[in-house]
Amino acid sequence: MGQKPWSQNTDWRILSPAMTQLQIEIHPDRQALVHRALALVKERIQAAIAARGTCAIALAGGSTPKPLYEALAEADLPWAQLQVFWGDERYVPVSDPSSNAGMAKTAWLDRVAIPTEQIHIMPTHFEQVADAAETYDQTVQRALNSTHPAFDIVLLGMGDDGHTASLFPHTAALQVSDRLITVGEKSGEPRLTFTAPLINRSRCVVFMVSGRNKQTALTEVFAPEADDNTFPARKIRPEGELWWLLDADAGEPIKTLPGVQAG
Ligand code: 6PG
Repeated sequence: MGQKPWSQNTDWRILSPAMTQLQIEIHPDRQALVHRALALVKERIQAAIAARGTCAIALAGGSTPKPLYEALAEADLPWAQLQVFWGDERYVPVSDPSSNAGMAKTAWLDRVAIPTEQIHIMPTHFEQVADAAETYDQTVQRALNSTHPAFDIVLLGMGDDGHTASLFPHTAALQVSDRLITVGEKSGEPRLTFTAPLINRSRCVVFMVSGRNKQTALTEVFAPEADDNTFPARKIRPEGELWWLLDADAGEPIKTLPGVQAG
């Protein structure tokens, strides 16, 4: 019998001081999931600013987080202390309907007073995508004043194939550990993405996963034996907190796992 699966070790701190504090919550529906995410994100923004005078947050793309961003636009937060980044981006202009930055700007960032110079959009105008990745790598290091920065909050989604950010199954990006930002690839389409080691240095990672189509991937992510390169979300084990906020449709197959809070 091999090592107990990481999702069933009840006390992470026993394994290693750097291990993850894992919280899995299943909420009745997507609206409840977003409501919980809003409360958690607001708490962690305030806590980061109280502790360090600033909060560095990396946003997820896709569709699930959009209502969260719309709710944050109505929140009363110390916007001047926020540094906003993206955990990944499709290689398209911000004006493109598929742009993660475009979605978050419309839903939230264009509606609050975060200083423009503190909104760090991933560049998608370079001819070589690798140059864009290197440029954003420098941007992150400079903005967070560190060659090994730790984000306060990283928001993530998960695809039905188990990808997260733009770390897609069996792609070269999964193996990159010597930089912060790398080039991802989805069916030949270039992406920019945080590397797994950068995400894993975070103080708080929050997954938001909704929908029945995520059940299979979630089962594999929390399975005793599965391949991290086939289900890349398994690679996310941050030094800080790891929150999985699920709706009932997505969380059905794992609701009986030890420690799962089913709301
Ligand atoms: C992206 C995202 C990606 C997303 C998942 C889930 O650029 O598409 O960053 O990782 O979070 O694909 O997307 P949904 O929230 O739309 O299911």
